[in-house]
Amino acid sequence: MHAIILAGGMGTRLRPLTNTIPKPLMPLANMPFVDRVIRYLAGHGVERVTLALGYQADCFKRHIARTKYPIDVGYVVEDEPLGTGGAVRLAARDREEQVVVMNGDILTDLDLAAMIASHVQRGADISISLKRVADPSRYGLVLTGADGTVLGFVEKPGSGEAATDEINAGIYFFEPWVVGEIPISGSCSLERELFPTLIDRGARVIGYRQNCYWNDLSTPDDYLLAHRDILRRAISADVPGNKVNGTWIGEGVEISPRAEVEAPAVIGDGCHIAAGAHVGRYSVLGRGTVLARRARVERSVVWERNRLEEDCRLSGAILGDGCVVYPEVELPEGAVCASGTRIPAKSHSVREAAGAGAVAIGDGRHSGTGVQGVRQLSSSR
Ligand code: GTP
Repeated sequence: MHAIILAGGMGTRLRPLTNTIPKPLMPLANMPFVDRVIRYLAGHGVERVTLALGYQADCFKRHIARTKYPIDVGYVVEDEPLGTGGAVRLAARDREEQVVVMNGDILTDLDLAAMIASHVQRGADISISLKRVADPSRYGLVLTGADGTVLGFVEKPGSGEAATDEINAGIYFFEPWVVGEIPISGSCSLERELFPTLIDRGARVIGYRQNCYWNDLSTPDDYLLAHRDILRRAISADVPGNKVNGTWIGEGVEISPRAEVEAPAVIGDGCHIAAGAHVGRYSVLGRGTVLARRARVERSVVWERNRLEEDCRLSGAILGDGCVVYPEVELPEGAVCASGTRIPAKSHSVREAAGAGAVAIGDGRHSGTGVQGVRQLSSSR
């Protein structure tokens, strides 16, 4: 079976992290997210994956070249964004077979085999996975009839205006002929253009419901929640390292006997944790990260090669690769730091940002030159 992973989006809601790395390559519990998606598909009988790339395609090419996968992994690159439909058209060269299409940013344990079985049993042309959420206002909604037939789509309704709480969960199964209906040139959206057109023409488009874990890693909060859910086993997912007293510990880790680590947490290969330092539960430290004396990390995700100097504090924060947090700096709750940011002690901009909610620090383009400006993260796109 063939699967297409849509991985060409810009991940704007996760800026500034996605200024230097595409969202599907961001680590999730110290493993590139796209590798989790590929493993998930391989575990459900997929034998061949095509990544539909656009934004920062070169990062993907390098990653794929150095990674061993249990199944065939190839890619296509869009010169300009083709939208979710155009990407499928480009990636589905062989139109003779059924195809799974999946957004490249979805963490789920959906039983794909059961979805495909339901597709066959119901004689569907297209099956769309649905997920019921508490606040549908920021998602694309799917309107269905009593028997699950898809009637229409509503894009991101304002709060209180949602006609349903069922959203498009971003996993589809197509009969072979469907791909041939996508216009040959230009951009096309699956949910705004292709699906409504085919419904009008009488295609059998079915919504598939299953009670499963689902998180689309769209925002910093989603990303932190996904880590928390993996660590507390709300979803079963491999975590690199040996599990010791509820914490995953990598190779070559040094933890002072006078440091404190609260489980569950993840400490990547080659991390050093000095005396008096504290790693709170639901924290993840990437490879080669150093916590100096009395540095404190709570509920935070820190990528590789970061240096957290003496007495600094992070809570609910996300740090890209290779940041330096200077002594005594206390990052505001929800801070998101671009890779390569240096956050000097007593930085005015950091202090001013304290208490302001989610703040982005650095822009990822001028690594090593200090705080690049602090701005309120926008929840809009
Ligand atoms: P935001 O910019 O924050 O909305 O994130 P995003 O870029 O991931 O956009 P969105 O969540 O709407 O995209 C859903 C999935 O489709 C993601 O896996 C994207 O990578 C992918 N995607 C969106 N647009 C395109 C496109 O034009 N081409 C390709 N190949 N993939 C796309």
